[in-house]
Amino acid sequence: MRCLLARFPFWVFFLLCGLGHISTRSGLGCAMSAFSDKEDEAVVKTMKDFGPIQDAYAFFEAHTTEEVIIRNELERLWRQDGALSLPLSILDFGTGAGDMLERFLTQLKIPKEQLSIGVVEPVEVAREVAEKRLVPHSHGRVASWAAIPAGSVAPFDRILSNHVFYYVPDVGKAVADLKHVMHEGSKLYVVMASDRNHLLVAWNDYFAMLGEPVPFHRSGELEAALGVNRLDYEVHTVHSELAFEDTLENRTLIARFLLGDDNFRKFKGDEATQYLGRYRDEASGQIIMQLEDHIFVAKRKQ
Ligand SMILES: C[S@@+](CC[C@H](N)C(=O)[O-])C[C@H]1O[C@@H](n2cnc3c(N)ncnc32)[C@H](O)[C@@H]1O
Repeated sequence: MRCLLARFPFWVFFLLCGLGHISTRSGLGCAMSAFSDKEDEAVVKTMKDFGPIQDAYAFFEAHTTEEVIIRNELERLWRQDGALSLPLSILDFGTGAGDMLERFLTQLKIPKEQLSIGVVEPVEVAREVAEKRLVPHSHGRVASWAAIPAGSVAPFDRILSNHVFYYVPDVGKAVADLKHVMHEGSKLYVVMASDRNHLLVAWNDYFAMLGEPVPFHRSGELEAALGVNRLDYEVHTVHSELAFEDTLENRTLIARFLLGDDNFRKFKGDEATQYLGRYRDEASGQIIMQLEDHIFVAKRKQ
């Protein structure tokens, strides 16, 4: 088992969230209480608190192929785009504790002398961990902010944002802020689940069952915001899977992961876990959910 404290796994992140301090992540399920960052006074609202569901999030991570598939597709796109012409500056918007970016940089094997890194993460404790974790990959210090600074900032060659846009308060403003740190040749890579992703289908169905609107942004809103901000973009689609043994305990973990405990508790009886039965594969005795994600690759109009 990996050294948990050294790696600052997300369960620590979640635990801290539980203390009312920060937000948390998942492929789809990042969640925040409203919080205020001390330095930047950034206030972010969210509809799902991940603090109490770290076990459910860890279960999701352990049973999905999503991150590896996204990293591999990103690497293919980056190399195809000539992204590895060096030196390179990279910004990770909504980096969390930097886990995914660190694994991606390790995979890319860019010499640290050739790489400058910036991170944006409104959760202070996570941002500090990301900063420390990424130092070994970066030439000089890692630039780190709670939000994109309004003033003058050197632009980045590549900007990554993996499963973050569901939770930003204003998608149009987030895209405008990122455009602010792009030069003519910069590329922006934003990953969001497609509407066909079974986790998003489940969000729709669950909140319909509750008679409430889904409280998270969708990829369609990102597309509109890219257009409004006059960014050209293309979309690449990747497929991965969530598969787990079909037990009531496991169904409960995934339902809680999707809904957060507050919403999960709104369901009467076993409605929320029953729902997942539609994804049961009789041959294997597993629940198998197909995950479809879009990778938006955007650049300034020439
Ligand atoms: C699902 S997590 C993804 C974390 C990381 N990108 C990864 O792939 O591991 C979403 C992240 O977005 C961050 N976030 C939420 N609202 C944000 C905002 N307005 N600006 C930047 N990041 C935000 C959260 O704090 C969280 O770390």
